[in-house]
Amino acid sequence: MGPQESNEQAQENAPSTGRRALLGAAVLGASGAVLGLSGTARADARHGGRGMKSLPVPTIVAHRGASGYRPEHTLGSYQLALDMGADIVEAGDLVPTKDGHLVCRHEPEIGGTTDVADHPEFADRRTTKVLDGVSTTGWFTEDFTLAELKTLRATERIPANRPHNTLYNGRWEIPTFEEVLQWQEEQTRKRGKQVWIYPELKHPTYFRKLGLGLEERVAKVLRKYGRNKWNSPVILQSFEPTSIQRLNKLVDNPLVVLLSGASTRPWDFVETGDPRTVADLIKPAGLREIASYAQGIGPTLDLVIPKDAAGKLTEPTTLVTDAHKVGLVLHPWTLRNENPFLPADFRKGTDADAYGDVFGAYRAYFATGIDGIFTDHPDTGLLAREDFVNG
Ligand code: G3P
Ligand code: CA
Repeated sequence: MGPQESNEQAQENAPSTGRRALLGAAVLGASGAVLGLSGTARADARHGGRGMKSLPVPTIVAHRGASGYRPEHTLGSYQLALDMGADIVEAGDLVPTKDGHLVCRHEPEIGGTTDVADHPEFADRRTTKVLDGVSTTGWFTEDFTLAELKTLRATERIPANRPHNTLYNGRWEIPTFEEVLQWQEEQTRKRGKQVWIYPELKHPTYFRKLGLGLEERVAKVLRKYGRNKWNSPVILQSFEPTSIQRLNKLVDNPLVVLLSGASTRPWDFVETGDPRTVADLIKPAGLREIASYAQGIGPTLDLVIPKDAAGKLTEPTTLVTDAHKVGLVLHPWTLRNENPFLPADFRKGTDADAYGDVFGAYRAYFATGIDGIFTDHPDTGLLAREDFVNG
């Protein structure tokens, strides 16, 4: 989205000739962000969009980096995402260490994404915990110091779907959030183009109960690097609405509430006794409330287009329209090239590591008017956007 054009205007222009103008404006907006604060961007902030309105639309978010091609949440995965041209890199999902540092792992349990099981010195750290109500066995970042975690190496999480990625097992260490911010600065300078990141706070209630509150730590690090402002190229996300509300008091960054399946309840709601489910949050009143403290929502794709019993796409819901009505952008997750992750009508054959008709799936989702999408394969997403924008 270019700073010259609001999301609402973009919706009115699409899908005809306006699409070309839309991306053109978006590209101008992205380069403008390098130069700092524009007058139009200030106007965007008044409208609640904060700096994120300078991004191309539909925005291609590299989910855990280019995780379709490299072990997720490594500097190798983040770097490849930028090389492919991703608009934003989800760097990272943030979890804390025992000594209070923030590191990039999808979950605190790291048995499936590192070589920790091959380290006999950590064998006695393997344990079972209840994580957001789910019994989970393995090794947990909160039981390791940063120095200990730095002795581990990242591995491919889903080798059955991504056998080629195992080539890179052992190549990269676990990045810290501070290293990501330093990398962002360095890459922005080298490329002459603003690099955006989209960190997620994982399990905030769980970690607060352990004395490892995430929000204050994230805010402190962002302040240290001067990236806590409304126009900073850092969007923050969480599945827990109260975490986003807490962040809203600590920093001025764009904020996004993640939404899982309609029948689920955010874990902070479970802990505080708030009876509402995601189905309640996506009603107009729920969306209005979210819009009072956040700029966007990150719904699972099924909330945008539900699937039938056979796993095929049905008709889009009214979520895109309803969210746009209250000024929220939508960045749903997650589109992946491989068959098992695609709607059944876009699969090709049955091989778990083979690609399906992901371009067909992009067409269906982009046609709903979403503002962006998380994908493990940013190169594919960018081509799909090109097709979409060029009509
Ligand atoms: O943050 C968007 C998407 O990543 C949410 O799901 O589980 O991959 O963090 P997850
Ligand atoms: Ca995430």
